[in-house]
Amino acid sequence: MTATPSTAKEKIIVAIDAPDAEAAKRLADPLLGEGCLFKIGLQLFTAEGPSIVREFKKLGARVFLDLKFHDIPNTAKEAIHSAAALGVEMTTIHLCGGPRMVADSVAAADGSEMLVLGVSVLTSMDAESLAAVGVSATPENQVVHLARMGRLQGLQGVVASPREILPLRENFGNDLVIVTPGVRPAGSDIGDQKRVMTPAEAVRAGANFLVIGRPITSAPSPVAALRAIAEEMAAATAG
Ligand code: C5P
Repeated sequence: MTATPSTAKEKIIVAIDAPDAEAAKRLADPLLGEGCLFKIGLQLFTAEGPSIVREFKKLGARVFLDLKFHDIPNTAKEAIHSAAALGVEMTTIHLCGGPRMVADSVAAADGSEMLVLGVSVLTSMDAESLAAVGVSATPENQVVHLARMGRLQGLQGVVASPREILPLRENFGNDLVIVTPGVRPAGSDIGDQKRVMTPAEAVRAGANFLVIGRPITSAPSPVAALRAIAEEMAAATAG
């Protein structure tokens, strides 16, 4: 996996949030030659199984398999082996599975090109819901805490919301890979996303990859939307 994408388009991960293979391929089809990655998540994977990943790979797509593994270390490790065997570029684990689960998951990806990303605190969780599961830290402190634990176990990257990019960069410098959802081009519908940044703001803040769904997949021309976002990102980091 190239953790240092060279073009703006290579930094874009298009979220294929679709109920079945047919709908997924319809969303991805116009974008296949563009150099972006495609995120397959729980909805599509649960409906179609690993065959959807194989179909995407056959079409030449690079895949981020976002299944957020969280289990005992041995089970997580074997799931990572299975993901690596599918040939995906990136996958995710929950950092709250603890140091051993993280270490074993990271080790399981050794020898493959797959990047294992840690999910820290889901953005649907606030201080109150963290307290409800017994965590008294603020969401931001908990994100940094879990990322630090992950780093100690060899974790290379994390998924983080736009508001977490700066604290993560401050604490861990530039060699942590940060993948950021919650991105909305200026002037677009924010939908159900609450804390958003524009693509330009997110790359300037230090995101390595942006996960973008509906602003691309629901656009009248997904290709034009992707290209406009890539141009905005390139301009934000030029010079
Ligand atoms: O359509 P939209 O751009 O909102 O899609 C963003 C994608 O990133 C969705 O697949 C969503 O589940 C995912 N995501 C997110 N916020 C997070 C983590 C993942 O929006 N904190």
